[in-house]
Amino acid sequence: MPPTPTQHTAIVTGAAGGIGLATARRLLRDGASVLLADLDQKRLDAAAAQLTTDTNADPKRIATIVCDVSREDQVAAAADAAIDRFGHWNLVVNNAGLMIFKPIEEQTVEDWQRILGVDLLGAFLFIKQAFLKMKGGGAVVNVSSVHAVETEPLVAPYAAAKTALLSLTRSAALEGKPKGIRVNAVLPGAVDTPMLWDNPNVRSGAELINKAEIGTPDDIAGAIAFLAGDDARFIYGAGLRVDGGRLVRL
Ligand SMILES: NC(=O)c1ccc[n+]([C@@H]2O[C@H](COP(=O)([O-])OP(=O)(O)OC[C@H]3O[C@@H](n4cnc5c(N)ncnc54)[C@H](O)[C@@H]3O)[C@@H](O)[C@H]2O)c1
Repeated sequence: MPPTPTQHTAIVTGAAGGIGLATARRLLRDGASVLLADLDQKRLDAAAAQLTTDTNADPKRIATIVCDVSREDQVAAAADAAIDRFGHWNLVVNNAGLMIFKPIEEQTVEDWQRILGVDLLGAFLFIKQAFLKMKGGGAVVNVSSVHAVETEPLVAPYAAAKTALLSLTRSAALEGKPKGIRVNAVLPGAVDTPMLWDNPNVRSGAELINKAEIGTPDDIAGAIAFLAGDDARFIYGAGLRVDGGRLVRL
């Protein structure tokens, strides 16, 4: 049986801000212990301090690690750090992500490798570690995007990675099931984080967003916590759209 939220020992990637930080906060409030993984120790320290204030959690339940999710050695070290720190590891939220904005004719192989390395391979690497090291079962939640379904110009590698992440979610759900590891994904719509407001398509007005369809990081964190928790124990390989209804309209 998958663990209940209060028993979660989680790694959240990209946890220094935005959706990752909100997810860590939500999991801590639900009783989990959380290892925050991101690129920069100073931002991680600030996030950990903010989470301690926000949640009143015992600081022993909050840890940080510098981890580039596209590097297998660093991902393996993060999994080991969670186990060393909390005794076991049973949840990973593959949230780290980045975008670049370029027309296809200007994109390079390096651009594609960088985006796929973080937005797709990062999730693969953590799922691999989960399958090797989550001895008592657990859960994986991958943060995809509405770009997995519909997209816009200039973001081809991002959209490709987010679509492939849904495919990886299905494959991993199948292979994880006999190990007691559930794998699911959320597809956020527009969420009020730097990633949204840094998007030149949004800034230029080329991508029109109805204000009523801009969610908060907490909206996504709630869906992630649901998929991670016991209420979702019968859910495998799902892609849950959390977009304020954006994709429903023709
Ligand atoms: N904000 C939105 O509108 C939106 C919509 C759909 C999907 N998403 C997805 O949600 C996730 C979180 O995005 P956000 O909006 O909070 O963005 P954000 O830019 O605020 O946060 C992303 C985090 O990932 C970290 N990161 C980047 N590369 C990394 C790497 N190689 N290793 C480890 N960490 C790395 C960044 O440092 C940052 O803290 C992303 O996967 C993004 O694609 C966001």
